[in-house]
Amino acid sequence: MYTKDIEITLTQLAKDLLRHLQQQQLLQSIDETLEGLRRVIAYNDWRYYVQSEPVISDYEYDQLFAWLKKLELEHPDLVSADSPTQRVAKGLTKEFITVPHLVPMLSLENSYNADDLIDWDRKARESAGLSEIEYCIEPKFDGASISLIYEDDHLSRGATRGDGVAGEDITTNIKQIRSIPLSASFSKYGIHQIEIRGEVLINKNTFKAFNEKRIAENLPPLANPRNAASGSLRMVDPNEVAKRGLEAFLYHMSYHTMETGKAEPDALKTHSGTLDLLSTLGFRSPAKEKKVLKGIQGVIDYCQWFETERDNLPYEIDGMVIKVNDYALQDKLGMTTHHPRWAIAFKFKARQATSKLRSVEFQVGRTGSVTPVAKIDPVHIGGVTVTSMSLFNEDVIREKDLKLGDTVLVERAGDVIPYIVKSVADLRDGTEQPILFPTHCPVCGDQLVKPEEESVWRCTNINCEAQVVERMIHFVSKDAMDIKSFGESNVRKFYAQGLMKDIPGIYELDFDKIATLEGFGKKSLTNLQTAIALSKTQPLHRLIFGLGIRYVGETTAKTLASAVTNIMDLQSWTEEQILLLEDIGPKVAGSIRQFFANDDNIQMLNKLAALGINMENTQGSRHVSGNLDGQTFLFTGTLAKLKRSEAEEMVEQQGGKILGGVSSKLNFLIVGEDAGSKLEKAKKINTIKVLTEDEFIKMIQ
Ligand code: IVH
Repeated sequence: MYTKDIEITLTQLAKDLLRHLQQQQLLQSIDETLEGLRRVIAYNDWRYYVQSEPVISDYEYDQLFAWLKKLELEHPDLVSADSPTQRVAKGLTKEFITVPHLVPMLSLENSYNADDLIDWDRKARESAGLSEIEYCIEPKFDGASISLIYEDDHLSRGATRGDGVAGEDITTNIKQIRSIPLSASFSKYGIHQIEIRGEVLINKNTFKAFNEKRIAENLPPLANPRNAASGSLRMVDPNEVAKRGLEAFLYHMSYHTMETGKAEPDALKTHSGTLDLLSTLGFRSPAKEKKVLKGIQGVIDYCQWFETERDNLPYEIDGMVIKVNDYALQDKLGMTTHHPRWAIAFKFKARQATSKLRSVEFQVGRTGSVTPVAKIDPVHIGGVTVTSMSLFNEDVIREKDLKLGDTVLVERAGDVIPYIVKSVADLRDGTEQPILFPTHCPVCGDQLVKPEEESVWRCTNINCEAQVVERMIHFVSKDAMDIKSFGESNVRKFYAQGLMKDIPGIYELDFDKIATLEGFGKKSLTNLQTAIALSKTQPLHRLIFGLGIRYVGETTAKTLASAVTNIMDLQSWTEEQILLLEDIGPKVAGSIRQFFANDDNIQMLNKLAALGINMENTQGSRHVSGNLDGQTFLFTGTLAKLKRSEAEEMVEQQGGKILGGVSSKLNFLIVGEDAGSKLEKAKKINTIKVLTEDEFIKMIQ
């Protein structure tokens, strides 16, 4: 679809459009401008989401997108169904309607080793009457399968697999996946209607970041990228789907019709040709990863080689799929009711195994949360021996119906932490016992509480020994103050020996006494001493993160650190002021406020300051109330109390900057009456804080 020539033309067109936008001029006509913007945006979506090589900056992209939106608002009659603006959804999905697939979505037969493949190849050759068959081999993506229909070049429907015969219509959510084109030039190849299948995935890094956020919010992490992908596809709010960063690979053409009188293109005679065609048309297909080979030995080698690459890929795959390349031969081989005879999956080594659930221990975390931890018979999965894993909270135990003595299915995928998939209820013999959640803290004995809106039981005694120790472990950890060679075991040891009892105690250790402990030679003692001394100059965000304030992860700690001159400034911040900071919601703001309103915490901070720990923001970008250094503002709509120029002057007087338009560079949008497209756009960029005029006045005062 995008030949080099077209790519050059579209890059040039993007520049032209940006220039015209700056001069507030259309191209020749409104139609030409709209068409140009749509083509340039679709092209840049492809560069960014399919090729991972953007050619214009996010800011320029945002500007073009905003212009297109503005023009479409002014000319609603000129909005086209495949305009990039049409990905943006309005409202919630009330119900996902069941829709039949044009052709049933079959499953694949599985193979696990070379012998299975040799056997399958022999049967296929016998049935085809050939001495050798050409195969196309590609990754088996571990996500959620989808089916897309394009009619007259437009994406007309997207559906889940469902039971294979019918799935759920998730078109609106599918449109949030930017690597799926809203239109593609199938008609250039004479194709009128086509059903293509593929897999929706979440990149491993996106998944990791997503789970880190959930854990910081005390929510149980999602089990694996596959579950996250399929869960995301069925979310009722398409805007939330858009935030999940889903990706899609298309790997199968299940049905197509040609335009009258048009001959089938050669590309559609083979599977590999189809993958190439899909790629040419702007889809992400395994065109690069595929290999076309004759004879089964090469297939086996390629599958085994790919398995060694598995962990280097940015997404999860659980095997390879081997397909007969020639469609005519596929038809000849046919299918059973469950799977085609012309394809087989080669499954990689299992990352699942069964074991016995022996006991559950209850661990008290630094915020008092009580986490059940399953102890299982040691089991070997993917090169690691697993003996224990978190069950997160009581609900998980109930939802998975876990009992002591149960046989449990355990999964450990890539760098995902091991977890229990389910209990195998069929294998119960009646001796299994229920898991009883404690009513009192297993460490200090205080009664546990469970706030209504939470799923976690908590010990509220902040002097509970477990919490105290866990807070210190967190404080010295790598992501917090990074006190090298301290670690969990030394925290526990020193605490047990009475050498330190709280965080300031880390800086008051008696090294003469430590020298008498077993395992502390001169060198390790010096190392520890140096590491502790060095940590005193760590940047402020590490100290803030190290304090273990509930819901304050590394990102929030950085936001807070850059907003103050000294950590003690936060003592006087109101919840409303904290809320104005980037990405901080009410729950987090409340928790921060609570921390700094607590006398014990302030005493601890004073002690740390007296011990010489850095309390200052030495990395710039201050933003205290009344000082808008480095912050960007934009006004939209009619202000009731201030003149626009007056308001802008107030911002600039306090070091803030006025921007010309909404983009990811904007920090605050102040909305007056009848705010229009700027507000719409700002709502989609979640780093922008939208303020009313009154909120702005309060802030500036
Ligand atoms: S072909 C009729 N190719 O694996 C055959 N499937 O276990 C259509 N899958 O339901 C499927 N990667 O969701 C095919 N490269 C690939 C695949 C793939 C993942 C999934 C698909 C299918 C399941 C079967």
